[in-house]
Amino acid sequence: MKKRVFSGIQPSGNLHIGNYLGALKNWVASQENFDNIFCIVDLHAITVPQDPKVLKQKIREVAGIYFASGIDPKQSIVFVQSDVSAHAELAWILNCFTPLGWMSRMTQFKEKSGDQRESVSVGLYDYPVLMASDILLYDTDEVPVGEDQKQHVEITRDIAQRFNSIYGETFKLPTPVIPKTGARVMDLLEPVKKMSKSDDREGRTLPLLASVDQLRSAIMGAATDSQKEIVFDMGRPGIYNLLEIYEGVTSLSREEIEARFAGKGYGDFKKELADRVIEFLEPFQKRYQDLTSDPAQLESLLTEGAEKAAEIAEKKMAEVKNKVGLG
Ligand code: TYM
Repeated sequence: MKKRVFSGIQPSGNLHIGNYLGALKNWVASQENFDNIFCIVDLHAITVPQDPKVLKQKIREVAGIYFASGIDPKQSIVFVQSDVSAHAELAWILNCFTPLGWMSRMTQFKEKSGDQRESVSVGLYDYPVLMASDILLYDTDEVPVGEDQKQHVEITRDIAQRFNSIYGETFKLPTPVIPKTGARVMDLLEPVKKMSKSDDREGRTLPLLASVDQLRSAIMGAATDSQKEIVFDMGRPGIYNLLEIYEGVTSLSREEIEARFAGKGYGDFKKELADRVIEFLEPFQKRYQDLTSDPAQLESLLTEGAEKAAEIAEKKMAEVKNKVGLG
């Protein structure tokens, strides 16, 4: 029996190189060794306002990006979260076992709500419980995510433990798996903050579906520093971030990369980084175009994925309801 992997991405904003290096790349790399479930988490997306037409399109876009990255529907279940009602149902039940104080400590909520704390939705606050439901429904062993989601996987363990201690062994405790490189790709203009798909002002992110010109100009315009040496130094966030992206798209070792750019200037390095990113994204975008040119095919893969996911999720829901005494 293979171990189970579960992960997901919100269909909001434009997926970027950070989502690829922090999540997708690792899903694909370990796909053969696991029993995989990859979700397009549209219920999470509506925790902030969304345009319904755009949301529907973005769901298909994320599905296309999963498959273009190399997710193989023969090896992995791919589905849309709202197609399997057990996610929302379990979230409600787990809400009733999750102390308010645990949610108040979530750093992502604090960051996202900022000074709007009184007016953001209850859904945004409760988002980690929905994420816990996603993971716990499928007896997940490993959750491959970027650094920013680690806290949410840890709270998932706490929620599972609390439920198990009341009702007996019900949920498996999942482990977050964070990549060594690309776990926190930074904003190109302000490399002290995370590259974010909800902030796609020109030049800040490298969207996976961007044009060659857009990619090149964002890389050439990325913030660096007034030093010269091209080395992996975490104290120099701009150049460190660009080097990590280089490492992520080429899979060369850090020593090889530093040796390659010894004595060269930032201009030469950025130019080569742009070439490498484009070299990587061009075939990716071609696969994306091919896959999405047949919407019916994509739709049938998602329907099939939802059926398989629902079969697993419904068994767990029946067990949970029975233990809690519902129905
Ligand atoms: P989301 O949609 O914000 O991001 C999707 C994945 O990309 C990673 N990521 C990054 N990695 C490196 N650098 C960055 N700048 C960067 N930005 C994002 C994220 O860590 C994530 O792995 N709550 C989740 C979605 C979710 C989920 C789940 C994940 C819902 N249910 C269950 C795992 C399991 C989220 O909003 O990710």
